[in-house]
Amino acid sequence: MSPSSPASAIPYQDDVLRKFVLAATFWGVVGFLMGVIIALQLAFPAFNLDLEWTSFGRLRPVHTSAVIFAFGGNVLFATSLHVVQRTGRAELFGGPYLGGFVFWNFQIFIVLAALSYVLGHTQGKEYAEPEWILDLYLTVIWVVYLVAFVGTLYKRQEPHIYVANWFFLAMIVTIALLHLGNNIALPVSFLGMKSYNVNAGVQDAMTQWWYGHNAVGFFLTAGFLGIMYYYVPKRAERPVYSYRLSIVHFWALIFLYIWAGPHHLHYTALPDWAQTLGMTFSVMLWMPSWGGMINGLMTLSGAWDKLRTDPVIRFLVASIGFYGMSTFEGPAMSVKAVNSLSHYTDWTIGHVHSGALGWVAFVSFGALYYLVPVLWGRRQLYSMRLVSYHFWIATIGIVLYITAMWISGIMQGLMWRSYDSLGFLQYSFIETVAAMHPYYVIRAFGGILFLLGALIMAYNFWRTIKGDVRDEVPYDTAAPATARA
Ligand code: HEM
Ligand code: HEM
Repeated sequence: MSPSSPASAIPYQDDVLRKFVLAATFWGVVGFLMGVIIALQLAFPAFNLDLEWTSFGRLRPVHTSAVIFAFGGNVLFATSLHVVQRTGRAELFGGPYLGGFVFWNFQIFIVLAALSYVLGHTQGKEYAEPEWILDLYLTVIWVVYLVAFVGTLYKRQEPHIYVANWFFLAMIVTIALLHLGNNIALPVSFLGMKSYNVNAGVQDAMTQWWYGHNAVGFFLTAGFLGIMYYYVPKRAERPVYSYRLSIVHFWALIFLYIWAGPHHLHYTALPDWAQTLGMTFSVMLWMPSWGGMINGLMTLSGAWDKLRTDPVIRFLVASIGFYGMSTFEGPAMSVKAVNSLSHYTDWTIGHVHSGALGWVAFVSFGALYYLVPVLWGRRQLYSMRLVSYHFWIATIGIVLYITAMWISGIMQGLMWRSYDSLGFLQYSFIETVAAMHPYYVIRAFGGILFLLGALIMAYNFWRTIKGDVRDEVPYDTAAPATARA
C-alpha cells in the first residue's frame, strides 16, 4: 500500500504518480530553459552558437515539444491517473505494470524525439515533428495509457463518473484520433527516418491545422480542464459551483473545438467557406470557454479569503483568469479582419504564451503543489513562502512576456501594412525586425523570471520530499495530507 493511502483499503498505485510528478518538474525546467535560450537567440543571434544543432530552427521544436508534451504530458499522466483512481475508488488498472510501461516508454520517446530534432529529422509539421518510426512508438504508449485509464474507470466502485474524468477521456481519445489522422505517411527510409505525408498541398495544411488546433483544444485545454475540475474544488474544499454547467461545458467544448482548425489558414488556398466555418466555430467557442471559466472561479464562492493565505489557490485561480483571457483573445483573433493583422506576427506568440504560461503552466503548478505532499505522505509543503515567491516572480515574468509580444506583434503588423503617399511600403522588412529588438529582450527577461520560479518550485519539492519543513502552513490544512488524498 502506498504511503498516501494508509487509511484506505484500496491499494492506489501512487508510485507511478510520484514518478510522473518528478518527470513533469524536470521537463518543465528543461522546457522553460529551452524557451529562454530560443528567446535569447531571437534577441541576440550569437546564442545560435553558429552550429547547426543549436540553431533556432532545431531548438524551437525541442522547446515546444518539451513544454507541451514532456512537461504538459507528464502533468496530465500524473493528474489523470490520480483523479481516476481517487474519484472511482479503484486501483489503477494493470497495477504497477501498465503505468510503469507508460512512464518509462514516454520518457524514452521524449528523449528520442528531442535528439531527432537536434539532428535534423522532422516531418516539418508543427507540434507533430517526430518522424514515422517515433509516431508508431507513441501510438503504442498512448493505447496502453488509454487501456489503463478506461480499465480503471471500468473497475470503479463509485457508480458516477466524475466530470474531470470525462475531460481526461476526451483528451486521450481525441489525441489518439488526431495523431493517427495527421501522421499517415509513406516511409521512404528506415534509419534515415524519412517519410512523406499522404496528403499534399492544401489537404496537408488542412489536416495539419485540424490536428494543431485540436492539440490546443484537447491536450492543452480539455486535459487541463480535467485538472481544474478536480484540484480547484479539492484545494478550496468547496464543491464545483455548478455540476450541470460542467456537463454543458464539456459537450459544448468538444463539439465546437473540432471545427475551429481553419482559423489557422485564413487568406490561404483553403476554400473561403472553410475559413468562415473555422472563424464561426471559434467565435462560438467563446461561450463554453467562459462558462467553464465562470464555473471554475465561482467554485471559490465562500472561500475567496483563501486567496490571501494559500498561494497554491492563487496559482489555480490566476490560471483560470488566464484561461478566460486567452479564450477571449483567441475568438477575436479568429475573425478574419483581426487575423489579417495578427497572423505571422508576435501577437500570436503573445496569445500562445498567455494560454501556455498563464493557463497550462499555472494550473499545473497548482496541481503539482497539491500533489507532492499528498503523494509523499507529508503534512505540508516545505515552504509556503517559497510558493508565494514562485507565484509573484512567475506572474511578473508572464506579464513582461505577453505585453512585450502584444506591443511588438501589433507594431509589426501595422508596420508591414503601412504605405506612403505614393503607395510604396513605408518600412523595409529589416526595419520591422530592428523595431522588435527591445521587446525581444524584455520577453527573454520575462522568460528568465518564469524559469527562476520553476527552479524555486523544484527546490521546494525536493525539500518537501526529504520531509523538511521551513515555515508553518499559513493556511488551515485542517485534515492531514493523507486524508486530503
Ligand atoms: C520560460 C518560459 C518560456 C519562454 C521564454 C518561451 C519562449 C518561446 C519562444 C522564444 C518561442 C518562439 C517564438 C517565435 O518563433 O517567434 C516560443 C514558442 C512557443 N512556445 Fe514558448 N516559451 C516559454 C514557455 C512555454 C510554455 C510553458 C509553453 C506551453 C505549455 C510554450 C509553448 C510554446 C508554443 C506552442 C510555441 C510555438 C508558438 C507558435 O508557433 O505560434 N512555451 N516560446
Ligand atoms: C476559444 C479558445 C481559442 C481560440 C478560438 C483560439 C484561436 C486562435 C487563433 C485565431 C490563433 C491564430 C492563428 C493564426 O493566425 O495562425 C491561435 C493560435 C494559437 N493558439 Fe489559440 N485560441 C484559443 C485558446 C487557446 C488556448 C487556451 C491556448 C493555449 C493553451 C491556445 C494556444 C494557441 C497556440 C499554441 C497557437 C499558435 C499555433 C501556431 O501557429 O503554431 N489557444 N489561437
